[in-house]
Amino acid sequence: MPIVAPSLLASNFLKLQDECNMLNESEADWFHLDVMDGVFVPNISFGLPVIEQIRTATKKVCDVHLMIVQPERYAEAFKKAGADILTVHYEACTHLHRNIQQIKSLGMQAGVSLNPHTPVDVLKDVLDDIDLVLIMSVNPGFGGQSFILHSLQKIKQLRKMIDERALETRIEVDGGITLENAASVVRAGADVLVAGSTVFKSPDPKATIRQLKQIH
Ligand code: DX5
Ligand code: ZN
Repeated sequence: MPIVAPSLLASNFLKLQDECNMLNESEADWFHLDVMDGVFVPNISFGLPVIEQIRTATKKVCDVHLMIVQPERYAEAFKKAGADILTVHYEACTHLHRNIQQIKSLGMQAGVSLNPHTPVDVLKDVLDDIDLVLIMSVNPGFGGQSFILHSLQKIKQLRKMIDERALETRIEVDGGITLENAASVVRAGADVLVAGSTVFKSPDPKATIRQLKQIH
């Protein structure tokens, strides 16, 4: 059964409390929170004050996906805002190893995300140190884009690397996940499915989350 992490980026921000309640009542496991700075990605989403508020509205895991440059400047603030998992982009970190250690020393789980063009083997020297790898299956910055098919090869390759070392590192896949392609993503080796539009634009989000949970 996959971990399902709906992305609040596709939610109705005017009704954030209702959206949080819906997720609380649903079978969703994690809240996926997308932070964009307008520099690393060509879009700006929401930041610390919003996450702080969301933290008060749920006991579920807050999975924060940082699409920002120099994430080390904000790691402590995201911990204070309530992040349980903090994921940084490989492409945004000159001193990735140091950033991972910082996140873990603050008491959060550490994730590293890869853009569609970044091969999975760049992680071979840090894989043992991280809790999660986030494979971007669209170019980060926007919800509602189409799944890049080549991501399936990357998931399979990463699954092999993780299994060969008998690690517990989770594979999270983010971007363009639908009820139609989710099974292929899980079969390729994903542990966590992020879904924005598929959940929040659905006429029955809770039922859609239940369907995603049942994928195998
Ligand atoms: C994109 C974000 C995703 C986004 C996914 O940069 O990282 O989490 O919200 O949205 P969908 O599921 O609509 O592709
Ligand atoms: Zn995301």
